[in-house]
Formats: sequence, structure tokens, C-alpha cells
Amino acid sequence: MSKVTKGLEIPRLLQAALVIGGIYLAFWAVFDLLLGQPIPRSLMGMYMFFVVAGVFMVFTATEQSTRELVGPIRALVEDPSRRALRNVVFAVVPGLAAVGIFLQMQPSDEAPLELRSIHPAPPSSVKIFGKRYDLMSLENPYRHLEKDDPEQFRELVGTGGEVYIRNCQYCHGDKLDGKGPYAQGLNPVPLNFQDIGTIAQLQESFLFWRIATGGPGLPKEATPWISSMPVWEKFLSEDEIWQVILYLYDYTGHRPRSWGHE
Ligand code: HEC
Repeated sequence: MSKVTKGLEIPRLLQAALVIGGIYLAFWAVFDLLLGQPIPRSLMGMYMFFVVAGVFMVFTATEQSTRELVGPIRALVEDPSRRALRNVVFAVVPGLAAVGIFLQMQPSDEAPLELRSIHPAPPSSVKIFGKRYDLMSLENPYRHLEKDDPEQFRELVGTGGEVYIRNCQYCHGDKLDGKGPYAQGLNPVPLNFQDIGTIAQLQESFLFWRIATGGPGLPKEATPWISSMPVWEKFLSEDEIWQVILYLYDYTGHRPRSWGHE
């Protein structure tokens, strides 16, 4: 084997490595320096796969060249005089691979790229408390009292407030601003009802659906994160849900969106 390295001749294995490394650098230089665009890793992986395959084909075209290419590797594995080097290589190569994989597996705190719909379109009819409701025509049975019996209406808002403080403020906050004590640990975050972008844009029937069926009731476009909003039909009565809805609008001063026939 020593014949191969006589004079200035470069061993074939090193030649192959140099060619592959050179092409890699050339790709990088063209994209990064000339075009000013870093090359995507997946694309580079694809290019380099073909480069390595091509170099192998050229370097193993004849039996003689194949023998020259793998000579140093065979010598390393078989030659008794290279035992010490062999042991080092056999420890270092898997070690480097392990470090590489470890680095790749570091968790990233970047959010997944998928988009999440915060107010997904409601299904047109839903099953709540074992009954079918048509969300397009469903109305808060107590809303009319606001005009018809203001005194009873105030009372119901008060009961709704109690329901809220007992059940909802942990997440949505005692000021209804989404800053409850549990809010920080949640993704998606509990919604801020003071914000003009939440309940002020919604019909009461939409809220009824969302409160009764919670995170598990959300359609698919509201994923990938699973909302922690509980399924309140398991813990509250239908009346309590309508009352807490009265409270949400009363406290924030927002008006529920109507279907245009008030
Ligand atoms: C464990 C925390 C938690 C509790 C307790 C909780 N919620 Fe939520 N709620 C959330 C989260 C998180 C969201 C936002 C994600 C979503 O839409 O499901 C949300 C969303 C909502 C929405 C949707 C608003 C919109 O603009 O789409 C309503 C309405 C709501 N909550 C009402 C309530 C009511 C009423 C209670 C009490 C009966 C309550 N929540 C209790 C976590 C909570």
C-alpha cells in the first residue's frame, strides 16, 4: 500500500475527500457570497448526496482505483501495526456523531409555524346539554330583561358575576383582562374580554357554544395547541352560562353582536 503515497502523490481517499469538500465550499460560496442567499440545508443535503454518489462512481471506476480508494481504510482496520490509531478512530468517530445528534436534538422555543384561528367559524348546529341548538337563531333568554325588567336583569348580572369569580377569574382575570393567576402558564392564553377583538365581535350564541364545550369543542382550525378552556357544560347549568355571559358584557361595557334584528 505504501507504493501509493510515493513522491507528491495524494492518497486517493484524501483526493475524494478534497473533491467533495471543495464542491461543498463552492456551493456555499456561490449561494452565500455571490447570491447573498444562504442555501437551505435540505437543498444542500440533496446536492451533496449526488456529489458524493458521483465522486464514488468516478473513484471506483476500475478495480485498481477502488483498491486505492479503500486501501487506507482496509489498512486501518486490518493492519496490526495500526492498532492504536484504530482504537482512537473507533472511539472518536462515534463520539462525534453522538455530539452532532445531541446538538441537533436541543429543544427549540420557537413556536410551531402553523397558524391558529382564534375565532373559528362555529358549526351551524351544536349539541349542548344533550340538546341540539341552532347557533344562528339561538339567543340569550335573559337579554330581553335588560329593557323589560331592569331590576331582575341587574340581579341576573350579579349571579353571573358570582359564577365568574368562582370559576373563570383564575384564567381570564378578575378584571376580565386575561391576566388571571394561571394565565402565564397557558398556550393559547386565556382571552382578554376587555379587548375589542374578543366578545365585542361575537354573538352571545357563539359564547354559549364556546363556554359550554370549551377547548375540546373547538374545530380543527383552532389547533395545533390544545386550549385549556374547560368544558363548562359539565360544571355549570345552562342558566349559569347565560348569566355569566350577561356579566361578561355588563362588566366590560361591550355590546354583544346581534343578527341585526334587535
Ligand atoms: C383553565 C383556564 C380557563 C378557565 C378557568 C376559563 N377559561 Fe375561558 N378560555 C381559556 C383559554 C385558554 C381561552 C382561549 C382559547 C380558546 O379560545 O379556547 C379561553 C377562551 C374563552 C372564550 C372564547 C372567547 C373568544 O373571544 O373566542 C370564552 C367566551 C371564555 N373563555 C369564557 C370563559 C368563562 C365564562 C369561564 C368561566 C365559566 C372561563 N372561560 C374559564 C381558559 C380558561
